[in-house]
Amino acid sequence: MAMAIFLNGMERREIRDLTLAMIASGETMNFAGLSKKTTDKHSTGGVGDKITLPLAPLVASFGVAVPQLSGRGLGHTGGTLDKLESIPGWQANISGERMRAILEEVGAVICAAGSGLAPADGKLYALRDITGTVESIPLIASSIMSKKIAEGTSALVLDVKFGSGAFLKDIAQSRELAKTMVALGEDAGVATSALLTNMNVPLGLAIGNANEVRESVEVLAGGGPSDVVALTVALAREMLRHAGQPDADVEAALADGRAMDSWNRMIRAQGGDPTAALPVARETHVVTASRGGVLVEQQALPFGIAAWRLGAGRARKQDSVQHAAGIDLHAKPGDIVSAGQPLFTLSAEEPERFARALEALEGAYRVGNAGDEIVTGGPLIAERIGA
Ligand code: URA
Repeated sequence: MAMAIFLNGMERREIRDLTLAMIASGETMNFAGLSKKTTDKHSTGGVGDKITLPLAPLVASFGVAVPQLSGRGLGHTGGTLDKLESIPGWQANISGERMRAILEEVGAVICAAGSGLAPADGKLYALRDITGTVESIPLIASSIMSKKIAEGTSALVLDVKFGSGAFLKDIAQSRELAKTMVALGEDAGVATSALLTNMNVPLGLAIGNANEVRESVEVLAGGGPSDVVALTVALAREMLRHAGQPDADVEAALADGRAMDSWNRMIRAQGGDPTAALPVARETHVVTASRGGVLVEQQALPFGIAAWRLGAGRARKQDSVQHAAGIDLHAKPGDIVSAGQPLFTLSAEEPERFARALEALEGAYRVGNAGDEIVTGGPLIAERIGA
């Protein structure tokens, strides 16, 4: 069946029926009794994509509930739970009752999805994995949306990525996936829209786990890299629009500490200490510019693979991640650099990891001359899809 769908595609009604059947294979959550509106976000994953961390508390600071069931990373894309687990004491596993209580009191919860939501998806995904049928748009759309619809949110914003570091590299395919998921959400009664966003260059300056938490806290403190801020603000506006607050002043909540208060409460509610020091790696290796000029290229995929090889990601589901491992970028495409200036720092627990990470980075960045084309693959936010 998976191969037939892979080869022939599916009609809208067929995708809906498959998705509803996968939802019906397990339990569903229902937040209808909550005193707040619910809205969630899903990203198809990328390199340095930590947006959920500042986004969930930011949206919650407007009195909207964000029930975010997240996963762990596999391969070169990181997982939100892995990032948050670098905070001392923070727990990903909480009961449905506790989740509801935190949504009511704090507004934002980011926790592990139990195996009870859409279990048929897990089985079908395992089959797709060994039959070469993962990359089928109807199957990807139904897989993602079965879990999100079962989660019981009344609105959903999708961050569908394209580019070298994305799950689907080609923007036309990402657009089709986004349109399919938006239609599926609408058919299931969930107000859904999508942003198509660029994943040719790593997002922000931090790729890893603990360092991505640090960067997220900078955004919540009103600073942080401009691309991370821009995407957080755009997705927050979309989510708040669905929650009936189209004019919410999102930037003000980042600047005046409301989003940070919400983050501190969210982390504490799950046992974490937001003031505790985050782990720091035992070993670092700094890569410097061999000549002066302009940084014209920084490819997301090799940087994602390098961070993974440093220990920030896992190859198999059962592996653990090293929270302090990763990459901190010191320059972004378009920045002027001088000879000898640090371009990025690799961090790992074991120095043996550096050679393989550096191998992945060969040809992945380039210092050129003023006036050379800056290779970014277009704007950060390319399109918006949905009502
Ligand atoms: N993520 C999912 O959850 N399912 C897919 O099929 C692909 C990405």
